[in-house]
Amino acid sequence: MKVRIPAHVRKIAVYVAGKPMEEAERQLGIHQVVKLASNENPLGPSPLALGAIREAAARVNRYPDSLGYELRQALSRRLGFPTEQIVLGNGSTEIVETLAKTFLSRQRGAVVADQSFIMYPIAVRTMGAPLTLVPLKDYRHDLPAMAAACDRRTALVYIGNPNNPTGTHVDRAALDAYFRSVPGHVLTVVDEAYCDYVTADDYPDCL
Ligand SMILES: Cc1ncc(COP(=O)(O)O)c(C=O)c1O
Repeated sequence: MKVRIPAHVRKIAVYVAGKPMEEAERQLGIHQVVKLASNENPLGPSPLALGAIREAAARVNRYPDSLGYELRQALSRRLGFPTEQIVLGNGSTEIVETLAKTFLSRQRGAVVADQSFIMYPIAVRTMGAPLTLVPLKDYRHDLPAMAAACDRRTALVYIGNPNNPTGTHVDRAALDAYFRSVPGHVLTVVDEAYCDYVTADDYPDCL
């Protein structure tokens, strides 16, 4: 089967997910493992989420509203943006991938930091699109270097802010300078998946 998989897909390294606690316990013969590696809530799911899941489970015989009308209305009220500017995904990974599917091709590529959220390069490589990796500077996205790495073939730049895995952020001044210098044909994706954890005053709110 392997030969039938396009070379650019074969080159993608297998994603290694965080090890389940049960597996660590089995392997090491230990108990009461504390897992700190993944985006999981050790306090358990919110009772509100459990209630909503229970309520929705009774209706799984029907397809859901694929446009997410009610959710987009609620987000629009909360964020103060029109519903036409809101796109939903099954997690933000789906949005990272949808952006790649929509804007990239073999001729139109992306610029990504070399140590950032692993799904950015995977999404770009899956499209067989040119990928330019720019090294971090002091564990931060090197925005001047990322803007300079854009050429006429660049369609997307992904910026994780704050960044996973380094936990650093780029500040307002750095991002403003970046937007002044990045070529106009480039779409910049600022991924603020972890914005709720930021306390720094100079954190730019990209909304
Ligand atoms: C920076 C960043 N963006 C997006 C995601 C995707 O999160 P999810 O698909 O669970 O919403 C992650 C997950 O680790 C992440 O680190």
